[in-house]
Amino acid sequence: MSSYLKNVALVGASGNLGSKVLSALLKQDKRNITVVSRPSSSAQFPASVEVHKAEYTDAASLQSAFKGKDVVVIMLAFAGLQDEIKILEAAARAGVKYVIPSEYGAPSKNPKMADAVPLLKAKLDIHKKIESLGMKYIVVSTNGWIDYGLQYGMFDIDLASRRATLYTDSVSFNTTTTAQIGAGIASFLALPTDLIEKQFANECLYLSSFQLTQPQLFEAVLKATGSTESDWQVGRKTAEDKLAEGRKKLEAGDMSGNFDMLVGMSFVEGDYSAQVANELLGLGQEDLDEVVREAVKAAAPGGWSAGSLLAG
Ligand SMILES: NC(=O)c1ccc[n+]([C@@H]2O[C@H](COP(=O)([O-])OP(=O)(O)OC[C@H]3O[C@@H](n4cnc5c(N)ncnc54)[C@H](OP(=O)(O)O)[C@@H]3O)[C@@H](O)[C@H]2O)c1
Repeated sequence: MSSYLKNVALVGASGNLGSKVLSALLKQDKRNITVVSRPSSSAQFPASVEVHKAEYTDAASLQSAFKGKDVVVIMLAFAGLQDEIKILEAAARAGVKYVIPSEYGAPSKNPKMADAVPLLKAKLDIHKKIESLGMKYIVVSTNGWIDYGLQYGMFDIDLASRRATLYTDSVSFNTTTTAQIGAGIASFLALPTDLIEKQFANECLYLSSFQLTQPQLFEAVLKATGSTESDWQVGRKTAEDKLAEGRKKLEAGDMSGNFDMLVGMSFVEGDYSAQVANELLGLGQEDLDEVVREAVKAAAPGGWSAGSLLAG
């Protein structure tokens, strides 16, 4: 293995996050990148990238794609997550040492988070699986993505219909843009391997763009849209109300309750600012107003549907 993780395989490099990770890695121009993409996918990649077409269930083909790789970064759609184990097994058989599993959200290694959210608890099994396969994981924790989250109404601020629920007891939580996660992962992979091994193997890499309360996020939206609260239909709830809604859905077998729990828990337990690695990675400061303005422009009519995300 070289002194840094030079040989990288990306799974899901055409996605919301994967495209940002790939473009940040390409800017560095210092590694061999293989992208694994499904044969049915219409995704297009730059010529400098080796593209290996494989079903995410095809063990032999995945293994050959991962041969000689130092790290596999998995960034699968929610609907594809059931294939993650097969991908991990193939990576282990190919001799890969490090894996970044498909998380990029609330910190699964925070026991309060994992205890509250079944979707996160399941991530702990993935960590164990990676270790049992003789590899090491690095969990990238980012909380809800501010750009994507605003576009799709994930923070209970629906740009398209101008409806918002304000969580008046929200803590000042960390939130990250997809661009910052891409830049963060690229910088992380350029760290010396011995530093990665010492500080991050089987641990968490925390990234952040901003730290703010949910009502402060709404203030930023008002500024970006040139509106006032009276232009919106606004309700007020507590984070506990959001968590209670999530628990009720989960008890009724509705897995979208996981997303209510994730959002609710970020308003309670979402401040990980003491652990953020931005400085180590040399990540720049972003402009909240600009990020929110861009999200407003890209806002998706109809909002976010956790149910449809899970169904694929
Ligand atoms: N914190 C947050 O706010 C937040 C939000 C969304 C997601 N996430 C996390 O980030 C990860 C990546 O999310 P994303 O939004 O970037 O993913 P995405 O864009 O929905 O999909 C990523 C890639 O997965 C592959 N894919 C799509 N549908 C699939 C299917 N049905 N079966 C198998 N593979 C499929 C595609 O790659 P190919 O076409 O190249 O095969 C696609 O480009 C998720 O697993 C989730 O953990 C976090």
